[in-house]
Amino acid sequence: MQGIFDQTAQAVKFIQEKWAKEPQLGLICGTGLGDLVKQIDTDVVIPYDEIPHFPTSTVQSHAGQLVCGELRGVPVMVMEGRFHFYEGYTMQQVTFPVRVMRGLGVETLIVTNAAGGINPQLHLADILIIEDHINLLPDNPLRGVNDDRLGPRFPDMSAPYDRELIDLTRQTALEMQIPATPGVFVAVMGPNLETRAEYRMLKTMGADVVGMSTVPEVLVANHAGMRVLAFSVVTDLCLPDALEPVAIEKIIAVAAQGGERLAQLIPQIVEKL
Ligand code: HPA
Repeated sequence: MQGIFDQTAQAVKFIQEKWAKEPQLGLICGTGLGDLVKQIDTDVVIPYDEIPHFPTSTVQSHAGQLVCGELRGVPVMVMEGRFHFYEGYTMQQVTFPVRVMRGLGVETLIVTNAAGGINPQLHLADILIIEDHINLLPDNPLRGVNDDRLGPRFPDMSAPYDRELIDLTRQTALEMQIPATPGVFVAVMGPNLETRAEYRMLKTMGADVVGMSTVPEVLVANHAGMRVLAFSVVTDLCLPDALEPVAIEKIIAVAAQGGERLAQLIPQIVEKL
């Protein structure tokens, strides 16, 4: 079987044959957060199932295509729809697109997700700038023999989310009067939401929001030496003593509200990169 390095090279070559620009920025859009794509001056759209070794998307709310173009004059590559571990993909599959982005030249990765708000100060549709994470996923994309061409065996995690990008984001959000506070994201496997006892535990651990994605991509991006900026949109309130049942439809609707604000904020940040 081919290793990730060679598979990445094939996918990179395939995309380069369709799109001549070198992307500077990669964007991974979370559930209901695809609004940003409308602002891209699109050159090419490539369905995932055409790209060698790319997994295909199974979640309804995810489109499953790579949008290549420019955002405020910056060549970008947007994943419209991402892969989750709970869907049954391996961690290597979940993170393969990040390897491909890196192979194409992407140095900065922006990731968004829909997440549950654990910190009681958070409101529905709030934007949280992820400044650190807790990884409770049962597998790791970097497990196995390390290919030194891709990154180091023991990647440092003292600052997986780029400090400068966080500061720039806070500044930009302030200027635009978009509320966005930094906080800690905890990743769980899902697909079920958490019990009240679990939300209580996650809060005690120091998490502000909880979600089922992002951390694998961030681990691989760090392994590959990329700068990362990540956002959560709060789609449900995880208050253990006042927990209400949530429906996925509601989560997607609330994500769309936060997504509108992210779609204003992110291009403004990109302009300043
Ligand atoms: N828990 C886990 N993942 C989530 C949640 C949640 O409450 N909301 C959106 N994604």
